[in-house]
Amino acid sequence: MAMVRSAQVYADFLLPFLTAQDHLVDVGCGSGELTLELAGFVGRVMGVDIDEVEIADARRRASRLEVTNADFHVGDAYSLRLPSDHVDAVFAHSTLEALDRPQDAVAEMKRVLKPGGMVAVASVEYAGLILAGPHPELGRRFYEIRERLWQLDGADPYRGRELRGLLLGAGFVDVVATTKCISYGKPDTVKEFGLGRAEDCTDDWFVTSAEDHGLASTEELAEMQRAWLDWSDSPTSYAAFAWCRAVGRNPSP
Ligand SMILES: C[S@@+](CC[C@H](N)C(=O)[O-])C[C@H]1O[C@@H](n2cnc3c(N)ncnc32)[C@H](O)[C@@H]1O
Repeated sequence: MAMVRSAQVYADFLLPFLTAQDHLVDVGCGSGELTLELAGFVGRVMGVDIDEVEIADARRRASRLEVTNADFHVGDAYSLRLPSDHVDAVFAHSTLEALDRPQDAVAEMKRVLKPGGMVAVASVEYAGLILAGPHPELGRRFYEIRERLWQLDGADPYRGRELRGLLLGAGFVDVVATTKCISYGKPDTVKEFGLGRAEDCTDDWFVTSAEDHGLASTEELAEMQRAWLDWSDSPTSYAAFAWCRAVGRNPSP
């Protein structure tokens, strides 16, 4: 079973700004993994995602973990069903890269924040990939395919570098942008990373899209899968990925 991503690793840039009374909104919360982690740091957290399957998963996860201060709603990042000046903090992890109008989504986050409230966004940055170990050419090829598929799907693998500009462009103040490398450099993390990528090579969406767009053949994907399995066991393997983050404050009038 995949390890749960912790708030201390993935939302560390937001944690210093949270209090036990805060009302936090997680925009594009997916299946609620980080939302439910964040529930332990605030009074109340609301997860919003456009995908009802993800929201159903998040609700099940909340009930399994017996988290009672989190609720989940199907909703759109461009028009959150919340009044203006309403919440203390907004978080969006791996969401802005999935949107074709990130500036509009950030403006909507600002609308729902109380004056003085904090926004915290994180996005992957594909220029920040470090990869070592066996089959380097197949590893690179895998990421080229993934990057192209993301772009064809309307996502931007290079959104991370834009976060500071997006927050300043929306009128946030005290904006600070940083980058954190998440590293896979121990036997257990290398294994998890390699097995995850091997699984991606058999994922329905990845396989069908790669084949439909003529980016890779079935044989090539099978070869990539074997390469990742091999990679997951090698003492020379190492991977790191850059996550760009930015925080900003909604100015007080
Ligand atoms: C890569 S996932 C990230 C999930 C979660 N934040 C995390 O880090 O685990 C991106 C999420 O954004 C959601 N999403 C995409 N467009 C959206 C929109 N317009 N409004 C709300 N959510 C959206 C997707 O359904 C997906 O669950």
